[in-house]
Amino acid sequence: MGVMPKEHSTDEDGLPITVAGEAPDRASLIGARVGLHVITAHLGEGRVGAVYAAEHEVLRARRAIKVLFPEWTQSATIVQRFVNEARAASSLRHRSIVEIHDCGQLTGGRWYVIMDQLEGSPLSRFRAAHQGPLSMHVATELLAPIASALDAAHAAGVVHRGLGPENIFLVQRGKNARHPILLDFGIARLGEGDAAALARAGKSVGSPVYLAPEQLRDPWLVDRRSDVYALGVIAYELVTGGWLPYQDLVERDSYRQLSAAAIAQRQLSWELTDPRRHTASLPEQFAAAILAALHPDPARRPPTPRAFALALAEATPAEGALPSGLDLVQTYASELLVRARPPDPAPSPDLDEEPAPPRPQAPAEAGDAPAGTPKLDAKPHGTPQDRADRERGSADSWN
Ligand SMILES: Nc1ncnc2c1ncn2[C@@H]1O[C@H](COP(=O)(O)OP(=O)(O)OP(=O)(O)O)[C@@H](O)[C@H]1O
Ligand SMILES: [Mg+2]
Repeated sequence: MGVMPKEHSTDEDGLPITVAGEAPDRASLIGARVGLHVITAHLGEGRVGAVYAAEHEVLRARRAIKVLFPEWTQSATIVQRFVNEARAASSLRHRSIVEIHDCGQLTGGRWYVIMDQLEGSPLSRFRAAHQGPLSMHVATELLAPIASALDAAHAAGVVHRGLGPENIFLVQRGKNARHPILLDFGIARLGEGDAAALARAGKSVGSPVYLAPEQLRDPWLVDRRSDVYALGVIAYELVTGGWLPYQDLVERDSYRQLSAAAIAQRQLSWELTDPRRHTASLPEQFAAAILAALHPDPARRPPTPRAFALALAEATPAEGALPSGLDLVQTYASELLVRARPPDPAPSPDLDEEPAPPRPQAPAEAGDAPAGTPKLDAKPHGTPQDRADRERGSADSWN
């Protein structure tokens, strides 16, 4: 029953037998069996592993299997992180988070994770295919569900760490052709911080443009506010037509080639170009929300992805047939409107994060409002920065 490996000799687990000394061919896993899944195709490779298409031979469900490169599984620290993160991520259930089905080790020791196979393409491709800036409306519509997904993850103690437009997939869901789904919780930047593993792998850590300054200092000392930063970079990129926050106006194509250290140095300066230099039509309040998310001091950022997405939504006016940002959020991520207080920052104990603070007595607020009667935060008054400060103030009382 099912698809049997045809073109390869296999061992008792159905894995292809590789002759000792032979360079392991990435594609050689095609036809291999992983539990009840049979690998059917090679989908691509990222920094930490290769991704294969697979089919569950009984359920016929289409899955994707990410198999870590061998070098990532030679370090006990990395394996422990990988397992912890897979365990935590597998408990997340959210319409904008890919479902994790299984995690284990192949015969040779390589670790894998099995998830839903998504039919669609990454946000990076959608953005690049679009000529020029995306509208505030599209950006808000794409980012609000992602913010909701991140809030759900943070509430469960999982920080993404590797958020970027490659790890947000756009799929068809009902009438929505661009429903965003988050991939790779905790996995995308697995090897960072393990200098030995990186040296063995001969790999660079990749461009740090989505990494928050605190993450550049210590890749594992991050919390949910590092994800807010990455969301800020993505928002910047979407509404400016592909420019990045610290990119000089002349270095459009060369910026990503700068050394990680050079990029990191700029990120710490907070001397970034206002997104309105690229897209003059952006409202000041919208640009200010993005700049606040990119603050080098995590305490000065919107405290949660939710707060950031709401700030973007509030700054997006209705325009002609286009609804306001708040109406869009109502449609795509209405939970952002009803949960008025930030999720508990309860990190999982293995993630080297600050311990969860004791929870103060909560005053009755909109989070307690019955579903269906969303109570919004007070409409912004004063400058966006004032408002961001107020949001932070209320969040800080939780910390
Ligand atoms: N669940 C999935 N369903 C379908 N395609 C996927 C899935 N996960 C990953 N892919 C595809 O497999 C390829 C490799 O993904 P991978 O996550 O390894 O790299 P990446 O996202 O480019 O970089 P990173 O290492 O930062 O995650 C990409 O083309 C990605 O679009
Ligand atoms: Mg990825």
